[in-house]
Amino acid sequence: MRIDILCLFPEVFASPLNQSIVKRATERGLANIVIHDIRDYTHDKHRTADDYPYGGGPGMVLKPEPIFEAVEAIKQQLGACEVPVILLTPQGRLFSQSLAQELALQPHIMLICGHYEGLDERVCEHLATDEISIGDYVLSGGELAALVAVDAIVRLIPGVLGSEFSANSDSHSNGLLEYPQYTRPQTYRDWSVPSILLSGNHSEIAQWRRRQAILRTAKRRPDLLKKGSLCDEERKWMSENLLDPR
Ligand code: ADE
Repeated sequence: MRIDILCLFPEVFASPLNQSIVKRATERGLANIVIHDIRDYTHDKHRTADDYPYGGGPGMVLKPEPIFEAVEAIKQQLGACEVPVILLTPQGRLFSQSLAQELALQPHIMLICGHYEGLDERVCEHLATDEISIGDYVLSGGELAALVAVDAIVRLIPGVLGSEFSANSDSHSNGLLEYPQYTRPQTYRDWSVPSILLSGNHSEIAQWRRRQAILRTAKRRPDLLKKGSLCDEERKWMSENLLDPR
């Protein structure tokens, strides 16, 4: 998968993209992440990427020309036309595991990181095919948001994780939070690992984990327990345990 990132602060990306799973995905040729400096597409000697807002008001607004030119140059160089061009902005639709799963199946995406008070609306209207927010808060720029999205997407590219199973048991991948995990030592400061996990009974362990995931989701994120993520038997078990199955 190729990911082009257009931004004003390319240095932000070096270390995070050079660690752990994303680094391995890149080394194995499963992800090709290319960072572009929007200022490289300006034409004045000060490399001006922003300007005052029409109508007045505080802050600066990113100019449309360098962003359009950057996207068009990259598309032309790659012979790409149908590639999703995604703007990172607090005004976008909320990023989620299912969106990450969807994007991980694309051969190519482009991410545009906004900055300053905003960017010229013509970029949103005539260049971006989607706008994504990573949460209801405002960052200083889209770079960190792009890193969050890239990390979540790249680990889902087929073949990146050791086994398909590791991504399937992640929180959110099945609409539930993940069950609690334990490793050695068996007892630490008087706190013991639940005995079921030492029983070797795989079907009982699977059932315990599933129920723990449901319990945890019901307590911490009841909004996630939408109709459909639980079977009838699990709903019955929830009502017996005084949990609201929604
Ligand atoms: N840029 C600034 N804040 C953002 C957010 N919450 N999500 C995506 N991009 C952003």
